[in-house]
Amino acid sequence: MDIQFIKHTENWSTEKGVLVRGMYEDRQFLDAVHPMNEKHKSYIEKTLEFSKFKGKKGEVFSLWCPYEETVTQVFLVGLGKKESVALKDIEEAGGHLMAALMSHKCEQVNINLDGIAYGDEGVACFASGMDLRVWQFDKYKTKDKPDQGPQKIILKSEDVDVVQKAFDRRHAVNLGNFLTREVISEPPNVLYPESMAEIAKSLSTLGLEVEVLGESEMKKLGMNALLGVGQGSEKESKLIVIQWKGNPNSDEKIAFVGKGVTFDTGGISIKPSNNMEDMKYDMGGSGVVLGLMKALATRKAKVNVVGVMGMAENMPSGSAQRPADVVTSMSGQTIEVINTDAEGRLVLADALWYTQDRFKPKAMIDLATLTGAIVVAIGHEYAGLFSNNDQLAQQITDVGCEVGEQVWRFPMGPQYDRDINSDIADVKNVGSGRGAGSITAAQFLERFVNKTPWVHLDIAGVAWEKKAKPLTGKGATGFGVRLLDRFIEKYYEA
Ligand code: BES
Ligand code: MG
Ligand code: ZN
Repeated sequence: MDIQFIKHTENWSTEKGVLVRGMYEDRQFLDAVHPMNEKHKSYIEKTLEFSKFKGKKGEVFSLWCPYEETVTQVFLVGLGKKESVALKDIEEAGGHLMAALMSHKCEQVNINLDGIAYGDEGVACFASGMDLRVWQFDKYKTKDKPDQGPQKIILKSEDVDVVQKAFDRRHAVNLGNFLTREVISEPPNVLYPESMAEIAKSLSTLGLEVEVLGESEMKKLGMNALLGVGQGSEKESKLIVIQWKGNPNSDEKIAFVGKGVTFDTGGISIKPSNNMEDMKYDMGGSGVVLGLMKALATRKAKVNVVGVMGMAENMPSGSAQRPADVVTSMSGQTIEVINTDAEGRLVLADALWYTQDRFKPKAMIDLATLTGAIVVAIGHEYAGLFSNNDQLAQQITDVGCEVGEQVWRFPMGPQYDRDINSDIADVKNVGSGRGAGSITAAQFLERFVNKTPWVHLDIAGVAWEKKAKPLTGKGATGFGVRLLDRFIEKYYEA
C-alpha cells in the first residue's frame, strides 16, 4: 500500500477513486480552509437525511455521489466531538476507514481532511491509523488471500514536507509494531528460541548490537531458573540481548525485558488441550521488546536502550522440570518450583537479574503474558501494571492514555509477598492462597529487580485479540510498542 501526500491546491491524479471526507459529531463538515464543491456537499447532505450516520467515533458511511462528470464513491468518517477530539481518535478513525475500505473494491483512495484538528499532524495520524489497520498475517495462505486493501492512498495537506515527516516518524514505529505482530503470529514450529535469535540478529543492519547467549553461557552465569523451564524441550533456550546506543553523550540506559516462552504447554503441570494453541503467543513480551528495539533504531531515537529477551520452550518430557524441584537463580536466591506452568516468572527472574546486574539501568520495564488471572481481573482492554516506583508507574499510565494502549495499576506489598515464601527454599513460584494470582506473580518478579526502578506489564489479555479493534485485525496486536516508544520519546530522549 502506497501512501502519498499532496498539497490542498493540487488536483487528484484521478477523480475515479474513492473520495474520503471527515466529519465531526452532529454532522459538522471539516471544510475550514478549502471549501467543498457546493453541488457535492448538498448531495452528501441530502443523502445523510436517510442515514443514521452522525459523525461519531468509529462511524463510517459510504455513498455514491454524482460529481462533475463522474460518479464518485464517497466515504464519510466520523471523528467524534469537535471540542474533544484527540490525536488517538484521529488515528483510530483512519483504522475504521481502512476496515471499511478493505471490504470494498477500490484502487485509489483520495482523502481530504481539510480543517481537521491538529492540522497536518492530524493528517499524518490518520494515515498512520490506516497503515496500522491494513497489516495482516497471511503468509501461510496459499489460496484465497484476504483482501489487501487499496493500492494507493493520497491525502491532501497544507505542507507536504511537514506531513511526510510526521508520518515517517509514526510509520517507523508501526514497522516495529508489525515485527511484534509477526513474531507473535508465527506458529511455534517456526518460531522458537533460536529462530527468534536469528530474527534479532538480522536487525543489526539497523545499527542495533545483538548478542545471543546459549545454554552453556547461561549455565556459567548461574541462570538455572530460566534453564529449568527449557530443560524439557528439544529446543535450546536463549537469552537475546539487543543494545541501541542512540545517545553517545550519556551512559544512562533504559532496559526492557521480555518473557519469551515460545510455547507454553505448562510442562509437567500440563495445561488442558482446549485453547492450548493460544500458548504460541506466550513469547509476546519478547516480541514487544524486539519490535520496540526495531522502532527505536528505525527512527534513530536519541537514547540508550537495552532489550533483553528470555527465550525458552516449556515442554513436558523425561528431562522436564518437576513440581517440587528447587533451582538456584542467578541472583543466588533459591526457588521451589511448585507449578511448572508458572514458568514465565522463572524465565524473568534470571533475565531481570542479569539486566540490572550488567547494565545498571535507570529504569527497567518488563513485559510478559504472565497470568491468566489478569484476564479474569481486567479482560482485554487494559494491561496490568505493577511497580515499585510511583513516578514511573504514572508516566506509563499517562502515555497509555495518550496512545490508546491503556494500563491499569495494581497494588503490591508485603502482605502479598509473604504468600510466596517457601518452606524449604527462599521463594516458591506460586502463592499459597487462591486469590491475587497476578499480584503474587509480580511480587515474585520484584524479588529479582534488586531495587531498580521497575515496572511490570502483564500483557496476557492484550497481546492477542479474538476480535478486531480499530487499529488491529484479529490476532496479535503488538500492544506495548507504541506505548513504550512514546514513553521513551517523552521522558528520556535527548
Ligand atoms: N502463559 C501463562 C499465562 C497466560 C494465560 C497467558 C492465558 C495468556 C493467556 C502462564 O505461564 C501461566 O500458565 N500462568 C498460570 C500461573 C498459575 C500456574 C499460577 C496461570 O495463569 O494459570
Ligand atoms: Mg505457564
Ligand atoms: Zn506462560
